[in-house]
Amino acid sequence: MSIISGLLSAEQLEQLTKLTSLLSKEQQLWVSGYLAGLGAQQGGNALAQPVSAAASSQDSLTILYGSRTGNGEGLAKKALRLAEERGLKAVLKNMETFKIRDLQTEKNVLVIVSTHGDGVPPFSAQELHEYIYGKRAPKLATTNFAVLALGDSSYFQFCKTGKDFDEQLEKLGANRIAPILTCDLDFEEPAEVWFNSTLAVFAEKLGTSANAVGTQSSVSAGIGSEVVKYSKKNPFKAPIFDRVSLHGKADERQTIHLELATDDAGLSYEPGDSAAIIPLNTKKIIEEVLQATGLDAQEEVTVNGINKTLYSALRRDLELSKITTDVVKRFLELAPNA
Ligand SMILES: Cc1cc2nc3c(=O)[nH]c(=O)nc-3n(C[C@H](O)[C@H](O)[C@H](O)COP(=O)(O)O)c2cc1C
Repeated sequence: MSIISGLLSAEQLEQLTKLTSLLSKEQQLWVSGYLAGLGAQQGGNALAQPVSAAASSQDSLTILYGSRTGNGEGLAKKALRLAEERGLKAVLKNMETFKIRDLQTEKNVLVIVSTHGDGVPPFSAQELHEYIYGKRAPKLATTNFAVLALGDSSYFQFCKTGKDFDEQLEKLGANRIAPILTCDLDFEEPAEVWFNSTLAVFAEKLGTSANAVGTQSSVSAGIGSEVVKYSKKNPFKAPIFDRVSLHGKADERQTIHLELATDDAGLSYEPGDSAAIIPLNTKKIIEEVLQATGLDAQEEVTVNGINKTLYSALRRDLELSKITTDVVKRFLELAPNA
């Protein structure tokens, strides 16, 4: 009060003291947010900013991401859009610029983080990762959280960083509102299914009805209005215009120059954009698998949270031509001979 007292008259100070003594902790926080908002509207000031950060995190969802090659960032933007469609007030924050001490003021956090190196956090998540394991780690008893971990199951330490965040946030007292989702390279569909169920729980915690139209955060404006016509989920099937092998016939290496005709797609490219080739398993290999296992091609199965026929899963979703560490491990569980 001593810093403020010089700014206020004795009468104002008395009224302020009287008012604050009548308010509950929650009301004080609301009023501090209200005053901070007024300050920001009138050009902002140093006093207003930290209070507003604390207040805004009370009634909004923070989508906090740590990404290196952009997958997590893309998912975070998608989560923001889905949250807003539900009427949730949400804010996107990059771990790279996140002030670690603000963690204790976050009340609802959706963490999206990948793993790099040999099971270590991406550079942008390193400081926060160290902080939650360190001596200065805060108590998070009033924080709700859920973690989406990105990784690649061909690495030994699959989704290690996401698992670290999930375990450690719980150890710090935070309340896990949904089980961790560990995503392999094909993450878009499972992530969307998980976002929908997890955001519904956050909406409940924040007291927002699922279909309400809420206040939208400023970060979202550009992202929410983006219309993506073609995506990994809805790919443009580009005809092959030209295909040239860049090595001699005797060479074991295979590097192919491919030209794809995309004129009809209305796509525009920027440096750094990439095109993906989505391979299908051959019908022959699928037949062989069905024969060897005796399974029914029309049986319904669930892959990454989506129901489909076994045939469709074998054709589009499952790797049939390469043995991964994961397959060997699972075979080991079934095999009678160690
Ligand atoms: C150099 C490198 C190392 C990686 N190491 C791991 C790892 O140890 N464990 C894992 O599960 N995934 C690992 N990955 C896979 C990434 O986590 C995965 O590609 C993820 O989708 C990347 O997300 P991001 O673009 O948001 O960083 C690694 C990827 C790269 C490029």
